[in-house]
Amino acid sequence: MTPDALKSLIRTIPDFPKPGIEFRDITTLIGHGEGFAACVAMLAERAQAAGAQAIAGMEARGFIFGAAVAAKLALPFIPVRKPGKLPVPVLAVDYALEYGTDRLEVDPDAVGAGQRVVVVDDLIATGGTALAAVQLLRRAGGEVAQALFVIDLPDLGGAEKLREAGVPVQAVMAFA
Ligand code: PRP
Ligand code: ADE
Repeated sequence: MTPDALKSLIRTIPDFPKPGIEFRDITTLIGHGEGFAACVAMLAERAQAAGAQAIAGMEARGFIFGAAVAAKLALPFIPVRKPGKLPVPVLAVDYALEYGTDRLEVDPDAVGAGQRVVVVDDLIATGGTALAAVQLLRRAGGEVAQALFVIDLPDLGGAEKLREAGVPVQAVMAFA
């Protein structure tokens, strides 16, 4: 399946969750078995090329793709969680979203010292979520080798910010 065919599986909902936001919804992509499998295969190929030793995904949509990529490559999965979910002392970072603010947390013991971690999420917009995840993974001792997204919204500048922070970025598709 080509990246263009995959792109046609994304549903766009205007004015969700706030007026002015064009919501790029992956529900329709993951609801298409062949499309989901092709997308995970593309991400896994890029993670492997980056020398991934572990895959990190951000709650919640990053878990869908990240965990699938980790299982496909038989690599550990590091959950980067929303606040108050992990039952251990955590590292935490607050960050801004295109439509609000949030906080991410990670179990420092989930990250190996110097481990090459590839970050996987469904979408990068402002980059706030991904930058917070990178900060957490680095503080936990990991080396962020690559960030992979299904969707890039380049007009919001997140991928550029991530590159400026020293993280190579790739996405399966872009909506400009
Ligand atoms: C969405 C998306 C990314 C993030 C991208 O997650 O899954 O993680 O926004 O936006 P940014 O680049 O501006 O940070 P959201 O926080 O809506 O949570 P969800 O995965 O629980 O739906
Ligand atoms: N997360 C942040 N911005 C988004 C958008 N425009 N569509 C879907 N998820 C998002």
